[in-house]
Amino acid sequence: MARDGFRPIALTRDLRFAAKVQPATALCRGGNGAAQFRSTPWADWANYWGTRDAISVPNPLVKQAGHLAPAQRGIDGALLDLEYQRIELIKFNLFDNNGTYPDFVQGRNGVPGSALKVWKQMRLPKTDPHYKEVGGDAEQVCKGELIRHRNVTGICNDIFNPLMGSTNQLFARNMTFDATFPDQGRTDLTRNRHGDRLGLMKPDPQVISRKLFTRAQSNPALCNDGYGLPGFSKDANCDYKKAPFFNVLAAFWIQFMTHDWFSHLEEGHNDTAYMPVGCASQKVNGVEQALSPEDAKKLGCRPDDRIDKAFVSESTDPKTFTSNGKQYLERAPKTFRNTNTAWWDASQIYGYDDRSRQRVKRDPRDAAKLLLVQIPGRTSAGDQLGYLPTLEATDPMNPEWAGQEATAFPDNFTIGLSFFHNVFAREHNAFVTEFRKQAAATPAADSGLRNPAAPGRVIRYRDITPDELFEAARLVVAAEIAKIHTIEWTPQLLYDEPLYLGMNANWSGLFGKSYPGVSEALRQIVTRNFGTSADAKKATQWYSVFASGPGIFGLGSHVYADDPVFAVFDPNKKDIWDINNPRHVNGGVNHFGSPFNFPEEFVTVYRLHALVPDLIEYRELGADPNQIKNKIPVVETFQAKATDAMRSRGLGNWALSMGRQRLGLLALQNDPRFLQNLKIPRLDSKTQQMDVIALDLIRDRERGVPRFNEFRRQYGLRQLTGFDDFVDKHVAAGSADYKEQQDLVRTLREIYGQHTCDAAKIITDTQRNEDGSPINDCLGHANGSTVDNIEDVDTVVGWMAETTRPHGFAISETQFVVFILNASRRLFSDRFFTSSFRPEFYTQLGMDWVNNNGPGPQMMEKGTPNGHTQPVSPLKRVLLRTMPELTPELNTVVNAFDPWARDRGTYYTLDWKPRKGAESDEAFRQK
Ligand code: HEM
Repeated sequence: MARDGFRPIALTRDLRFAAKVQPATALCRGGNGAAQFRSTPWADWANYWGTRDAISVPNPLVKQAGHLAPAQRGIDGALLDLEYQRIELIKFNLFDNNGTYPDFVQGRNGVPGSALKVWKQMRLPKTDPHYKEVGGDAEQVCKGELIRHRNVTGICNDIFNPLMGSTNQLFARNMTFDATFPDQGRTDLTRNRHGDRLGLMKPDPQVISRKLFTRAQSNPALCNDGYGLPGFSKDANCDYKKAPFFNVLAAFWIQFMTHDWFSHLEEGHNDTAYMPVGCASQKVNGVEQALSPEDAKKLGCRPDDRIDKAFVSESTDPKTFTSNGKQYLERAPKTFRNTNTAWWDASQIYGYDDRSRQRVKRDPRDAAKLLLVQIPGRTSAGDQLGYLPTLEATDPMNPEWAGQEATAFPDNFTIGLSFFHNVFAREHNAFVTEFRKQAAATPAADSGLRNPAAPGRVIRYRDITPDELFEAARLVVAAEIAKIHTIEWTPQLLYDEPLYLGMNANWSGLFGKSYPGVSEALRQIVTRNFGTSADAKKATQWYSVFASGPGIFGLGSHVYADDPVFAVFDPNKKDIWDINNPRHVNGGVNHFGSPFNFPEEFVTVYRLHALVPDLIEYRELGADPNQIKNKIPVVETFQAKATDAMRSRGLGNWALSMGRQRLGLLALQNDPRFLQNLKIPRLDSKTQQMDVIALDLIRDRERGVPRFNEFRRQYGLRQLTGFDDFVDKHVAAGSADYKEQQDLVRTLREIYGQHTCDAAKIITDTQRNEDGSPINDCLGHANGSTVDNIEDVDTVVGWMAETTRPHGFAISETQFVVFILNASRRLFSDRFFTSSFRPEFYTQLGMDWVNNNGPGPQMMEKGTPNGHTQPVSPLKRVLLRTMPELTPELNTVVNAFDPWARDRGTYYTLDWKPRKGAESDEAFRQK
């Protein structure tokens, strides 16, 4: 491995890394255990030493060998592999729909596309009320009031690209435009890949939902389609496959996050036209046949369901352009708008347009605070901090939301969303309270805040206005949320050592004393691998790699005469960051040549409905927390019922209940029953019911998300050559897991079918076979043989079917690769997480609060969980502040998303065993 040196960064997309290493590399990093799985499609690093639980650490005693010890070689190797993936994702997977793509490919005025930083498409239009303020027809630069805070519509985050990331901008893509909308058969490649087998209703989405997504029930009467038993009896039971290392809070956390990042709907509505949603046909012995009413009944699907069609922004034929003899589309054949801000700005709490902002209630007694009300009879310390008020009749809203708590984004509300909205409203107020305390103690002291319109004026604690403090608190809460997500939620979602290190590196850096080996290797990779242009290289590959050094958060928030990244290591540096200089205020962001917005493919991999259990195991702090008192159906907390459930039972009890319960595994046949049968009165259909899971497939098809195999190839992952590739090679043949996987393969084959392959048909130009030949319809099988229609598998079905996963991964590697790119970009592109993470915007107290996870100095966690000394995690601190009554329960909790009563054991164990004191918790007697 040492002799061959580091592999080059691919020059063209078909020569990508594909997360597969050379035999010698695999041996060096994981021995035969890694080498033997090289022929599978799945990422090699998951088999390296040290990347799983204690069993993967061959000889802990060789730890003295430092980075030469096997486990360290494995972990360093995994980090390198992940960085290769990120570099190539940034290089090959950015496709903006706004008309900037031709410049990305061809460059502009001699500047390579990937180094471009400003786009005319990101200017505010004449219709925008701030058009004149930012410069009108001339060069547009945001200034003054517009750059102080996170603006409600998300404009002026990038001060040179005011429109970027704001409400109603187009979703981007991560796929070449001509690979999207495969059912349109626009190219020979897509026609060869899918024949005429694809359509909006082909294969039938409700049939897929019922056959591949339904949770099997040992006793259907106890589940009652997710509606449980009368009186919320604890005898109710809905079986589901559970993740032992991830709790229900984590499920609702991610729904809470997606409501911040994106939405295709407007005020909970789609377009006005309706369409049928399947339950019409199924394949029988390979032939499509109409479903009889009896068949439908047996499957449980509903032919009379109707759903409103998705909004489409642009569906005219896209223009083309030619570069270096190759023709490209300028955008995808259809585009769609993100009706939310794309920024991680807590817009689900604070609003994303004027209408949603009206739902945000401020406290008339202190307008810097959110309004929280006292609920009679609720008496715990947390209860005293109050609960969100409900929406008022005069508030702008979808009538279905009446009676719910007032939040900016109220759609699909249940107890889980009510929970996080209340927690972060309390947290907002906790910050304001602390600030007011500080102001009372030192009224004349400098708060750190500045007004960019009058930057020379010191704003003392006593000078700060309620509006200024409200907006500073929003910045703090948004940054806390981003931090929780990056270093607490994600490391528990991906529960292993490389990802713990990787996510902490994204936030606060990896280089330095602990990882000199990785640092040096990364340096070597970028210096040895020259791109086509020095500038493009610096702007993309260098930047991404070196950001792993100091971390993305706060990049450019100090300016030194030297290069911003290298200067971090210079002890004599002097900070010359200046709020008067727009290049300093904006200097830390990097969009890698493509304006930031989420791609459609990102929405796809967040279709995580399987995480949600049908029933919540309800417990009470005042009683014995080990006792389950009730089983409360999530659907019985839908919309206004969430607010009743919250107020009558209390935030602390819901925290305990959802903190202890395991969430649903992202696996096939594991979606909530209630979501397949959801009653939605607004629907203009006979049934007024919705199969949300079937809809997951339909929406992806409407939005032209490529099907699973091409999706993987586009992201630089290996393709599958048939359904059998879904069977995990680590699982013993004949075991129960093996049998279940074989059954699923049979069902996949039944649904998607097979065909006689034709080796003359080339199906993709995204990757090639290992011998360099083009990939054809036979996928390596003999010409004329019967092959699986693996190319047709819906992307959500595909990633749910992935049973081969890195250790502790609650998601699949296909979803993960989408996150590597987009989760990093969400930080890289945001001025408030990079160069504007400064007291001038956050206040000094706000900076300290984000850095230390709350007021006062940093608190350290006891012991060394998984071998790390670490601060008390940010969500744990938030929970302790907003619900002091949780203190005894949280005493043993290290990560708020790990089931609270689980014994975390040593080194990334996934065992489902009680910690001391929870032995009587009946959840540990469940499978
Ligand atoms: C527990 C209660 C939940 C309910 C009732 C619910 C309901 C829904 C419904 C009705 C839609 C369809 C919208 C449409 O396209 O017409 C939807 C979409 C979606 N849901 Fe859920 N969901 C729940 C939980 C979750 C969770 C835990 C996640 C995790 C991330 C999630 C992620 C999504 C995503 C990504 C979409 C697509 C949104 C878009 O197209 O912009 N949902 N959900």
